[in-house]
Amino acid sequence: MSEAVSRRSAMRLLGAAGVVGAVVGAAGCVATVPPGARVRGATAAAAPAPAPGSSARLDALLERLTLDEKTALLHGAPAPAPLGQAGYVPGVPRLGIPPLRLADGPAGVRVARPATALPAPVLLASAFDPALAREYGRTIGREGRALGQDVLLSPMANLIRTPYAGRNFETFAEDPRLTADLVAEVVRGIQDEGLIATVKHFALNNQEQGRDTVDVVAAEQTLHETELRGFEAAVAAGAGAVMGAYNKVNGVYACESKPLLDELLRGRWGFDGWVMSDWDATHSTVAAIGAGLDMEMPGGTHFGGPLRDAVRGGTVPQASVDLAVRRILATMDRFGLLAARPAARPARDPAAGARIARRVATAGAVLLRNEHATLPLTGAAARSIAVIGPTGQTPFVSGGGSAHVVPDAAPAPLTAIRARAGSGSTVRYALGEDLYGRPLPAQLLTPPADLDDRGVDPGRTWSHEAVFTLAADDEWTLLVHYTGQRPGVRLDGTELFPVREGVAEHFAGGLLGCAPDGLTVRRRTLALKAGAHRLAVTAEGGPKGQRFRLRHTTKAGRAADLAEAVRTARSARSVVLFAYEDATEGSDRTSLGLPGGQAALIEAVAAANPRTTVVLNTSSSTTMPWLSRTGAVLQMYYPGQEGAGATADILFGDVDPGGRLTQTFPADERATPVGGDALRYPGVGGRQEYTEGVHVGHRWYDAQHVTPLFPFGHGLSYTTWEYEKLTVRPGGAHGRRAGLRVEFTVRNTGRRKGTEVAQVYLGPSPDLTLDQPVRALAGYRRLTLAPGEAQRVTLDIDSRALSSWDPEQHAWVLGSGRREVFAGRSSRELPLRAKAVVASR
Ligand code: BGC
Repeated sequence: MSEAVSRRSAMRLLGAAGVVGAVVGAAGCVATVPPGARVRGATAAAAPAPAPGSSARLDALLERLTLDEKTALLHGAPAPAPLGQAGYVPGVPRLGIPPLRLADGPAGVRVARPATALPAPVLLASAFDPALAREYGRTIGREGRALGQDVLLSPMANLIRTPYAGRNFETFAEDPRLTADLVAEVVRGIQDEGLIATVKHFALNNQEQGRDTVDVVAAEQTLHETELRGFEAAVAAGAGAVMGAYNKVNGVYACESKPLLDELLRGRWGFDGWVMSDWDATHSTVAAIGAGLDMEMPGGTHFGGPLRDAVRGGTVPQASVDLAVRRILATMDRFGLLAARPAARPARDPAAGARIARRVATAGAVLLRNEHATLPLTGAAARSIAVIGPTGQTPFVSGGGSAHVVPDAAPAPLTAIRARAGSGSTVRYALGEDLYGRPLPAQLLTPPADLDDRGVDPGRTWSHEAVFTLAADDEWTLLVHYTGQRPGVRLDGTELFPVREGVAEHFAGGLLGCAPDGLTVRRRTLALKAGAHRLAVTAEGGPKGQRFRLRHTTKAGRAADLAEAVRTARSARSVVLFAYEDATEGSDRTSLGLPGGQAALIEAVAAANPRTTVVLNTSSSTTMPWLSRTGAVLQMYYPGQEGAGATADILFGDVDPGGRLTQTFPADERATPVGGDALRYPGVGGRQEYTEGVHVGHRWYDAQHVTPLFPFGHGLSYTTWEYEKLTVRPGGAHGRRAGLRVEFTVRNTGRRKGTEVAQVYLGPSPDLTLDQPVRALAGYRRLTLAPGEAQRVTLDIDSRALSSWDPEQHAWVLGSGRREVFAGRSSRELPLRAKAVVASR
């Protein structure tokens, strides 16, 4: 396909061709306007991009800036005094324009210093609580300012489209409506504190595999009704910046897509902040700036010298550069960064950060299964506990990649469980699976050497050659832990840990890639024969010196760890088994099962003690062939620095598990919205198509009549609930006739105080010929009720929720006629249903 053709089709697919249509409603939920953050609604149709910040002050600045100074504002550069943030843009000191520091990210501020490691956004989302999302945003906003940052590279608004995607923990949900609500509140929270939020990755960066080049093809209706909703809501909430994605969208790189950046984002949605590229996602100078990209990150390959040359040579109009500079300066101005005396930065408040981290982690905890009252741990069940699993001892705090945050401290779940169980209880621990290995026994080496924790001074080289003798054939995993340059380890002449060009070290996982004391970890598994092997180790001190250790596990050792776990499980009344799955930016999961020997460990432990609770510290949905053997399963995702205490809060019943799944958990890996269809995922020949259309996530399971393992919205409580008396009538918020007002009663019928997330779904309109979800999430309410208490819930379904995107009209059209409304506890447990007529307008 020629570039011209692909560009035309991209415009058609986005519906950004300027056809006027009726736009109904605005995305997101109602909220107050934060200081410094203007709220903008969706505009009626594609309109010329607005010229932001037309104040005389900006005019004067633009007048005085030289071309060199202007282009220097349009790309990143190395920071003179790095604070460890991801990006830096030098200012123009002679004109009072300060530099910009840009830091990740979605679960806390990622700089060289410790910060509050909040629970992953997917755990926040599980609370179904926009007000909590606002507080989460505020926590990061304040910390970002305190840690010297101006721009936060968050939130991530991409949908969870495929369960394999490596960054699902960084985002919110498979559901567009829920994502939109939460993204908007996180943006508001971040910006409440004066930090500029960057909604990313615009758009369709829903997987890591091939993310730099994949061409994602999606129809106009699909785009507007699924992936774009979160971005639109972020813009409506006043987001100061947008980050363009790595991938192509309908034939054009997202960072040079005029339909996406200029026509949709600015023209239709009225965005007046600036657009930066993802890191190294800029591919051109003329096309990118012409399409509406304002800033290349993290360097100036295209927007440095080449942009200046293009302006001088006349291929880029000076006006394009001025417009980009104006957008950046106008946003800085809006956040007070150009003020003669900018607002003082606040101090970090680690205690407040820790409190919100714990609240979010307990609020989002999803109890997936609870048979025979395995949980909560009370009475005898709480007096004799076996804690099993490596992440019981080494807390799984946050995922890998650019969202990884290093906290001040993160207690181990084992410590929290011991503290909560109290001195009258016995809490035993078994590792179950060794993630970091044991020291190599010195006597296996001739000449012997201690390879555990060696230091190498700066500029020195340390090496050792030895014969490594094994008594029996075994499967060995050799691990190297190190700081600085990776040591060379050769076994029988083969390098075990080759450094591969272009593979970023920081894409190591959040758990496996880092030893508990912070050393980087690499592993290699080999079948080794009995007898003598040659081992050669070389370590370079480099400029800063180096530390390393060589460790190992063997199949025999792994069997012994499993046997020990089974013995420990048998000796206790209750078992809490911590399971992990270590996802990261830069790669997708290859299986939805738990990695390593964990399935076998769970089977064996649960067979020994059926009162086993599996706590999942995983990134996204997981298949569970072992499920029926377990007593309970608690989904905690990556719970942040206070995950241990939060997990104990739920296990012991101090807090009711009020989290609900924001993504469907499949029963079978072959039966997912992308299962078995390579064009859908991961793509064929560099191209992929979103042929599921509007049926993303739970909508696909409903449309295909596939029974999931756990449906969207599922989550158990320690009490019981009843839903009664559903009424639906026309009307709703602000007396708009196009909406529906839904009312029903939720009753806590159990004997404990509990938290419920009441959900409302909407059936299709008979008056539209467009493809529509069988049931779409239309509203939800999180409520906490005392035993026996009932609450009448009122939810207004706004006209946007009742509308579909019509690609003929390039506009939202109201789905009138008799529509079914469902209310209940999950997308598959909907005891109440009623019909109401939506009047056409
Ligand atoms: C990621 C972004 C991140 C950036 C800076 C990129 O690899 O995709 O999400 O903000 O790096 O760290």
